[in-house]
Amino acid sequence: MSRRTPIVAANWKMYTTVRTAAELCQALRENIDGVRGVEKVICPPFVFLALARETLAGSSIKVGAQNVFWEEKGAFTGEVSPPMLADLCEYVIVGHSERRKYFGETDETVNRRLKAALAQGLRPIFCIGETGDERQAGRTEEVLLRQVRGGLDGIEIGPGFVVAYEPVWAIGTGVPATGEMANEAIAFIRRELGSLYGGALAQAARIQYGGSVDGANIAEFMAQPDIDGALVGGASLKADVFTTIVAESARL
Ligand code: PGA
Repeated sequence: MSRRTPIVAANWKMYTTVRTAAELCQALRENIDGVRGVEKVICPPFVFLALARETLAGSSIKVGAQNVFWEEKGAFTGEVSPPMLADLCEYVIVGHSERRKYFGETDETVNRRLKAALAQGLRPIFCIGETGDERQAGRTEEVLLRQVRGGLDGIEIGPGFVVAYEPVWAIGTGVPATGEMANEAIAFIRRELGSLYGGALAQAARIQYGGSVDGANIAEFMAQPDIDGALVGGASLKADVFTTIVAESARL
């Protein structure tokens, strides 16, 4: 069994309101603050970061953002910079497939965001994954290689760096990858990290699985040797389900 501490992150996407975000944070604080052997991160929409930070203050639950721009400041209406996030959260999701699909993100813009986040001392959750068409065409490894090399170009990762392998066809569809399939892709990503950064950093990197993770299938993923937790969308909005996912992900 690996000595890596798993990390489970809740990606709330564009859900919750002031009231429901507060309730969810409060419920999670009660339910999972005491769960050890797994790092827990809540990623609410930007507008609820301060609320989450306050509600979770002094707990073991960390806060993350869902995106970050690469410029420090300037006339960029609607954007959020790394220094703005620095006092609000520890983690930031970068390169999520929904950003790539709907907001034109590329490996190059993902790379700029990763660099800016790291320079600010934020910890990225770097998302990659193939589409259904790419998998069908037998191009999964080629796509993952391109995303890893492009996203991490010119970047030195530190121990415990977080990558989320999220096959696009599994996100929000209720059709997760199998544990074996996810482990195969994640082991491949780890090998590539090894060729870029050496075995020690690759072995220390945490690689999550994401895509229709729920309380019933998390154990199958966590039973795999290379999977170090999950990035959870839909199921993270239900306090009881996310509690189960966190509890099942703990490695003591
Ligand atoms: P899902 O989303 O759990 O709803 O499939 C995962 C994600 O997009 O991170």
